[in-house]
Amino acid sequence: MLDGVLSERGERKSDGTGGEFPCKPSRALLRSLQRTGRGGTGPVVSDSDPPAMHHELEPGAGSEYLDRLMRRASFAALWPLFAKGERPAKEMTESFSALEHLRPFLPAEGPCRVVHVGDGAHARTAALFALKTKSENVSIDPVLNVPLVEEWRDRYEIRRFTFEKARIQDAAERLNALPRMPTFVTFVHAHVSVDAALAALRWDAAFTLACCVPGKQLTRVHRIMDSGVDANVLSTGRTYQVLVNDDVRGGPSLSR
Ligand SMILES: C[S@@+](CC[C@H](N)C(=O)[O-])C[C@H]1O[C@@H](n2cnc3c(N)ncnc32)[C@H](O)[C@@H]1O
Repeated sequence: MLDGVLSERGERKSDGTGGEFPCKPSRALLRSLQRTGRGGTGPVVSDSDPPAMHHELEPGAGSEYLDRLMRRASFAALWPLFAKGERPAKEMTESFSALEHLRPFLPAEGPCRVVHVGDGAHARTAALFALKTKSENVSIDPVLNVPLVEEWRDRYEIRRFTFEKARIQDAAERLNALPRMPTFVTFVHAHVSVDAALAALRWDAAFTLACCVPGKQLTRVHRIMDSGVDANVLSTGRTYQVLVNDDVRGGPSLSR
């Protein structure tokens, strides 16, 4: 496969080459964002912010995620991956939204796994979770830049971080065959049908952030534990859902 070419294209969400859907906000999504105004419950930019910040943010967006990320030592390791994005700040807040919303579900003790579907060429959400949680992380994307991600993993000695260059439908069987443990799934602007992907996977809870095809990126069938418009995500694609799997055999393995 032409890793470099595909990887670069995978990063450009607006050019329509990032997967199964072109990444343009639908009219319905734009209308809904306009109707809800800034939406969400997170803090928004206040008058005390430096004026320059206002120009960097989408209307109504808050900088809390970015501030929290940048205050931590792990930021230095994350930066090389996020710097490759067209809009690193925006990408960081999208991945951080997944962390923020799934963290309450991750068990305090014992192993757990997070599968990051449609994680892009640079496996950034998996990288963030590997640095910020104790979960095992698997990044799945058909345009994953394997040499680049391997180099990053080795350079920073990142543990609990694996990746596969594949479509989720092709990787699902291998993922389901991994040792059993509470399993979580992220879909950060993933260009997949969330319900179709979840149907193929063993999972306990999932986070999805919709961009251009909310009809497929938001569930129609699963129980929605939490949903809304995340004001701390610095892009127009800020509608999220947290889903729980009521069909887990033996009852949910989660505690909140
Ligand atoms: C808009 S990009 C989002 C990338 C990354 N999550 C981010 O926020 O930067 C959509 C991603 O979905 C991936 N994708 C498309 N079809 C897929 C599939 N069947 N399985 C897994 N990923 C897929 C694309 O390759 C692309 O990287």
